[in-house]
Amino acid sequence: MKVPFSPPDIRPEDIEAVVQVLRSGWITSGPVGEEFRKALTGFSGTSDTMLVNSATAGLKNALRFLGVGSGDEVIVPAYTYTASASVIAHVGAKIVMVDTAKGDYFTTAERIAAAITPRTKAIILVDLAGKMVDTKPIYQAIESAQSDFCPGSPQQEHLGRIALIIDGAHSLGATGYGMRAGQASDFTAFSFHAVKNLTTAEGGALTWRKENPLAEQIKPFIKLNTLHGQSKSALEKTNTSGWEYDVMFTGYKENMPDILAALGYSQLQRYPQTMKRRHQIIDYYNQELAHQPVTPLTHRGLDQDGQPFSSSGHLYLLSLDTLELDQRNDFIERMFDKGISCNVHYKPLPMLTAYKNLGFNLQDYPNAYAAYCHEVTLPLHTVLTDEQVAFVAETARDTLQEMTK
Ligand SMILES: Cc1ncc(COP(=O)(O)O)c(C=O)c1O
Repeated sequence: MKVPFSPPDIRPEDIEAVVQVLRSGWITSGPVGEEFRKALTGFSGTSDTMLVNSATAGLKNALRFLGVGSGDEVIVPAYTYTASASVIAHVGAKIVMVDTAKGDYFTTAERIAAAITPRTKAIILVDLAGKMVDTKPIYQAIESAQSDFCPGSPQQEHLGRIALIIDGAHSLGATGYGMRAGQASDFTAFSFHAVKNLTTAEGGALTWRKENPLAEQIKPFIKLNTLHGQSKSALEKTNTSGWEYDVMFTGYKENMPDILAALGYSQLQRYPQTMKRRHQIIDYYNQELAHQPVTPLTHRGLDQDGQPFSSSGHLYLLSLDTLELDQRNDFIERMFDKGISCNVHYKPLPMLTAYKNLGFNLQDYPNAYAAYCHEVTLPLHTVLTDEQVAFVAETARDTLQEMTK
């Protein structure tokens, strides 16, 4: 039996939705994208949402909107995908990287507080595997550093403090701390990349919460910034008698075409069922691996305040507690030989050439490295049949037993 890691779940209704756009006479950004972004706003319970061509573009739009650039610092955890940090370099700011907590994939408010300087303009946190981070202690850390905050743009001045941005590439639909993903920070970027819970092949969205004091200014900026800085979109130019336009600044090209928006909008209709199925699989893996020397990431439960949380069920992160790095890699190979594709989330950024070249040293991130050495991600998606789910759990258990006897 072959089990792919994360194929897209494309249903007949998705295909029909895309075909309708192809037949409609308008294929780039237009009415379907409008519907999709409004539905996402309603689903996340946020102030508003803009569609972009990736989560990376979403994060970058938040930083550009805030006017973060040269001379500024942005804090980001070491245990993440490169996009959480590369956007900081893209806007010309300095990446300040923090380690995770010991024995965890997530960083802590204490580590972030210790990394704040008067140059800090934003903090980017990651809802890894679709599990929302607790932003309350981070906002407390931001508040404690308030007197040292030096705004470098009118937007930063208006906000009056360090901005908190969530890389929510994994977390659409997650709940926690009494909130939904998108509501816990000033900005949240979602990804609709091909391997995500909800996909548009490539794509993303930036959303911002109702309490964001800059809410009114964000949408007009992103609309311009993702369409060359042009005062009218192609559709607006077509639909109105006035072809006239201006270019307000040298913006970027990061919009989502309606062909892709149709795919995402169609998938959003069944997204609650998608998450439910993902959690069924997580529960099954947890149950089947319960007596093994492994620790799965907790996707559901109660937080410190006794409030229920539930991830989006994006990635099944498993720590193989008794296996060292080479054995972890051997486990992945053995699983592959038996037909199952696994993965690792993530190689800490200081292990990657780009970040080594920027001067980051893995020795400064021992907790992230330790988490990486033991981590394996099992297939978790809605194309999996019950039979495949059982096969993955059984094969993982047998492989662990083979390796630890
Ligand atoms: C944690 C994280 N952040 C950001 C991204 C980037 O998403 P996109 O490909 O939509 O830019 C990814 C993509 O895999 C990711 O896993």
